[in-house]
Amino acid sequence: MKRYLAFVSCVLLALLSFVLALAWPLWWAVFVPMLGLSLLGLADMLQTPSTLRRNYPVLAHFRYGLESIGPEIRQYFIQSDKEEVPFSRLERTLVYQRAKNLNDVVPFGTQMNVYSTEYEWINHSLAAVHNPSHDFRVLVGGTRCTQKYSASVFNISAMSFGALSANAIRALNAGAKLGNFYHDTGEGSISSYHREGGGDLVLQIGSGYFGCRDAQGRFDEARFAHTAALEQVKMIEVKLSQGAKPGHGGMLPGSKVNAEIAATRGIPEGVDCISPPNHSAFSTPVGLLEFIDKLRTLSGGKPVGFKLAVGHPWEWFGIAKAMQETGLLPDFIVVDGAEGGTGAAPPEFSNSIGVPMNEALLLVHNTLVGLNLRDQVRIGAAGKITSAFGIARTIALGADWVNAGRGFMFSLGCIQALSCHTDKCPTGIATQDHSRWKHLDPTNKSHRVYSYHENTLKALRDLLGAAGLMDPSQLGPEHIIRRITPYEVRSFAALYPFLKPGDLVNGRHVRHILFRTFWDLARSDSFAPPPNVAELQNRKFLRTARFGHGESLYPAHH
Ligand SMILES: Cc1cc2nc3c(=O)[nH]c(=O)nc-3n(C[C@H](O)[C@H](O)[C@H](O)COP(=O)(O)O)c2cc1C
Repeated sequence: MKRYLAFVSCVLLALLSFVLALAWPLWWAVFVPMLGLSLLGLADMLQTPSTLRRNYPVLAHFRYGLESIGPEIRQYFIQSDKEEVPFSRLERTLVYQRAKNLNDVVPFGTQMNVYSTEYEWINHSLAAVHNPSHDFRVLVGGTRCTQKYSASVFNISAMSFGALSANAIRALNAGAKLGNFYHDTGEGSISSYHREGGGDLVLQIGSGYFGCRDAQGRFDEARFAHTAALEQVKMIEVKLSQGAKPGHGGMLPGSKVNAEIAATRGIPEGVDCISPPNHSAFSTPVGLLEFIDKLRTLSGGKPVGFKLAVGHPWEWFGIAKAMQETGLLPDFIVVDGAEGGTGAAPPEFSNSIGVPMNEALLLVHNTLVGLNLRDQVRIGAAGKITSAFGIARTIALGADWVNAGRGFMFSLGCIQALSCHTDKCPTGIATQDHSRWKHLDPTNKSHRVYSYHENTLKALRDLLGAAGLMDPSQLGPEHIIRRITPYEVRSFAALYPFLKPGDLVNGRHVRHILFRTFWDLARSDSFAPPPNVAELQNRKFLRTARFGHGESLYPAHH
């Protein structure tokens, strides 16, 4: 009966206040809300879909109300500065301060627990140096490129117009122009908002071939050549997979495909917009490299690479073997970690599929080193990088540059409300609702994007200088130390196995288990699993088949 206490109280108060109001009109002020709550309770009891509302008439709404503001309450009142996920308040505050050009020094000493097993640091030098420039750059483009690109070591990761609002795209691109770094379009192609600021673009091509597809959704050479020829497009990136939802593809519901998005992507308005999980332009490792080579030619010699989240190791090895066999090289590879972000993804994809950035980056870097190809193929990496130390440790692990997605969203004012998938982003960044995004001032925010980049690179310059280094390219795995137990630490060089140049070409013994298990068996003409994996699958299949035929689940050994 206690469950109905709130409802019954409302009814009784309504009756009582009605009687009193007949004598003292002020009581109408009590009667009206009490009548409203009584009717709400009645509706709760009569409806059937919600058991909670039937069991707790009136009261259930308070729970829903509190639940809906739970993230804000936790964020503002409960969580500590280091606790919040995916990004802690400390991480976000650093971006906000750098974006707003505020003093970013911290008082009293570190808040990090330097004896926790996640703690990492860079060793300093007694011969510190000072580099007057913080504009660290990487030249991208192999021998087949006629329009090489000098990229910053810190850039805006792929996020489409569609996932982000028009004003967010405007601000990011104008910020990239101010700071001379690149803005990756994401798979949604180039909108008019990308063009206004004139910032360098990396044109991403996903499996939906948006902006360069025919009516059936297949890759269209002429349309691609037209877009890739834009002066603003500096490089082309084939998206194979994304860390937050590898192997998933995606779907923009027809209701969100407005005239503008339809025109940008080259798709019909109001119809569900599908990105298939696989590309239709190629189906083998060699096919991927031939496609990349074709894009390079069609673009007039611009650098072309691919972005991938590493999955089955033999598939990546297949691509690497295809490079070795054909001599067709991507100009760059962007490695995305499982910790990466997205506008919306199924939880299993977000939480439990794909290799995290450290291991993925190490695998890609080591393979290229082992093949003697590392000097010809540049590597970018992304995965929750927001600070100068994040950039340094990632470059030390094997990257040439890093990209940030959510870091740059914070610079636009994102408060991590975790509502990108609802179209109700409170800061007007991840929404297509005009009434929300019109309040994001693109001019003001472009300066924040610029300042975040600028101040982060100055911090990188100072951090490198303290370690006695003039340039990020001097960073190696021996520079970064990680605590692995409360009383033991290891450098990255000691912690991870690294291949030596040519190890995979000369058939030398390789310590890394993945190379020992899969390298020889991987195929350049197929992504199919190698025989040792297929054999294990078959064993399982045989067991299931036997069980299905009423025989034993396990083969008899006795
Ligand atoms: C809102 C949003 C949209 C994204 N859209 C794309 C996309 O279109 N293509 C893509 O390759 N990655 C996309 N990503 C992934 C990012 O480019 C990036 O790889 C990932 O978030 C890791 O970087 P971060 O941890 O710095 O955010 C998106 C991420 C976010 C947060």
